[in-house]
Amino acid sequence: RRAASASSSSSKHLLRRSYSSDSKPERKVAVLGAAGGIGQPLALLMKLNPLVSSLSLYDIAGTPGVAADVSHINTRSQVAGYVGEEQLGQALEGADVVIIPAGVPRKPGMTRDDLFNINAGIVKSLCTAIAKYCPNALVNMISNPVNSTVPIAAEVFKKAGTYDEKKLFGVTTLDVVRAKTFYAGKAKVPVAEVNVPVVGGHAGITILPLFSQATPKSNLSDEDIKALTKRTQDGGTEVVEAKAGKGSATLSMAYAGAIFADACLKGLNGVPDVVECSFVQSSITELPFFASKVKLGKNGVEEVLGLGPLSDYEKQGLASLIPELKSSIEKGIKFANQ
Ligand code: NAD
Ligand code: LMR
Repeated sequence: RRAASASSSSSKHLLRRSYSSDSKPERKVAVLGAAGGIGQPLALLMKLNPLVSSLSLYDIAGTPGVAADVSHINTRSQVAGYVGEEQLGQALEGADVVIIPAGVPRKPGMTRDDLFNINAGIVKSLCTAIAKYCPNALVNMISNPVNSTVPIAAEVFKKAGTYDEKKLFGVTTLDVVRAKTFYAGKAKVPVAEVNVPVVGGHAGITILPLFSQATPKSNLSDEDIKALTKRTQDGGTEVVEAKAGKGSATLSMAYAGAIFADACLKGLNGVPDVVECSFVQSSITELPFFASKVKLGKNGVEEVLGLGPLSDYEKQGLASLIPELKSSIEKGIKFANQ
């Protein structure tokens, strides 16, 4: 009797476990550039995400090793590594979310736009494959310059007849992560409670943190707000300089990329009120793409939220960023249509 009841309680336990994992839909996430500085820790973080059932790791080299390594972690997802262009189709087929950290990073003295010549071509060819193999996937673009690579992706998808503006995202989460960290340090509030929207784009002055809307509220001086704004705008450069030629942010970016992909998966799964900042097709300013708070749902973008009330300092920041962001967007569109 004891044996029977032990076995029935353990099968109940097993059933409960299998129910709890079966109750989450199957979701395939593909990481393109998975053997890189961002790709590897991002692969790790996505392997830890219980919403992922299949993790597809693609790069031009090195993915078999990364995939074998990550696959030994005892979490839900099945991991597969794909290497070289001939395996890209398989890597993408059936993907619900495709995260793209493929491309070269900055060295000291470079702007993100200096990466355009190499990364624009990489993004164009990867997006051509996405249009062919997983046209309905949500695309999370990390490759720089994001202000141009997102418009490139949109043009590639338009040409292929697969463009859905609700499914293309420039990942600007690292700007939000930095703004939260820096604000919490200065305002002396618990970092886990901080929220700060960051709008605009993802390069220099196009990164506009809205500290006037930060919560918990604080009484920071105008000088403090200016310094926090500048530090957020230069956060990437701070890391590039500290790494002294060995690349740009990888660990904090992997964290930020994992947060954003998780938000996309939650949205797809019907979790209500999932809101993150992202660089998306937008009509909240005169520009065709703009980062702001976005509500995520079962089809990707459910609603692009407005900017909310801005301080005079933020209004000035918004006016000054428009011309630079406009020209980066136009550069991407022009490249894709050459
Ligand atoms: P990295 O050089 O360490 O890794 C890039 C990886 O991309 C490499 O493994 C490389 O083999 C791979 N790759 C190159 N061409 C490819 C192709 N055609 N298909 C698939 N993979 C390809 O660089 P990293 O530090 O991981 O940075 C990657 C990109 O992310 C850079 O452009 C960087 O500027 C950008 N980045 C963006 C943010 C952001 O906030 N959006 C933050 C940090 C870095
Ligand atoms: C960042 O913000 O860290 C990235 O865009 C990488 C870079 O070049 O700064």
